[in-house]
Amino acid sequence: MSTAKNSIKKVTTHRLQEMKDEGEKISMLTAYDFSMARIIDDAGIDVILVGDSASNVMAGHETTLPITLDQMIYHAQSVVRGVNRAFVVVDLPFGTYQGNSKKALNSAIKIMKESGAHGVKLEGGSEVKDSIKRILSAGVPVMGHLGLTPQSIYKFGTYTVRAKEEAEASKLLSDAQLLESIGCFGIVLEKIPARLTRAVSELVNVPLIGIGAGEHADGQVLVLHDLLGITKEFNPRFLRRYLNLFDDIKMGVEKYIKDVKSGDFPNESEQY
Ligand code: KIV
Repeated sequence: MSTAKNSIKKVTTHRLQEMKDEGEKISMLTAYDFSMARIIDDAGIDVILVGDSASNVMAGHETTLPITLDQMIYHAQSVVRGVNRAFVVVDLPFGTYQGNSKKALNSAIKIMKESGAHGVKLEGGSEVKDSIKRILSAGVPVMGHLGLTPQSIYKFGTYTVRAKEEAEASKLLSDAQLLESIGCFGIVLEKIPARLTRAVSELVNVPLIGIGAGEHADGQVLVLHDLLGITKEFNPRFLRRYLNLFDDIKMGVEKYIKDVKSGDFPNESEQY
């Protein structure tokens, strides 16, 4: 076995807490397959989320609701095979943990056993407290997710910023404290005002990872395909695009089609 591979210091929940305590920001991105996971792990990403956004990005569904546990496990297995250093967290999909803590535990154990991932993430606060506690009791690290929780999109009716009103903001604050008190190792805060993220950070000591939640979070997460410009139509204010791969890939494929049609490809040096 290669010693280089063995000498890599893997990211753990302990290390993530250390990073927060030392003021080092945590970088997190989604990945759903081996090739992308390998690239972003090699680039030094701290946490890889096998997000249920695979339902949108990989499968083309309008929401995250349709993706199944087995489909999430397939994505997670592929990601884990590409990763040497990053901490890999897998979303528990819709319908596999809400309202039934035994089912939640079974879903989390199935993910951990079959994928080799390092932890799970699930959406919600007090409503899913029993599920989180039961998963934690089996020694599985759990990450919370508050604010815009896409599995509840039909309750919200819109993907706009959450917790702008006092009642929702104060529930989010008490949910964050609850998640910390029962043992979540971190919390994703999605699409909430930056000042509310700051208020959460004053009450809670576990790492807060923001997406559209402003500068006061301890780290940031984005959907990889958004950052790379593969998902062209999605343009929320919080998104910074680093590449325009939709156009670049399309251009490469158009050139390939032209070369095949014209007989230019393959040329003499490209054949046996
Ligand atoms: O599924 C996902 O990609 C997520 C992120 C948006 C945090 O949950």
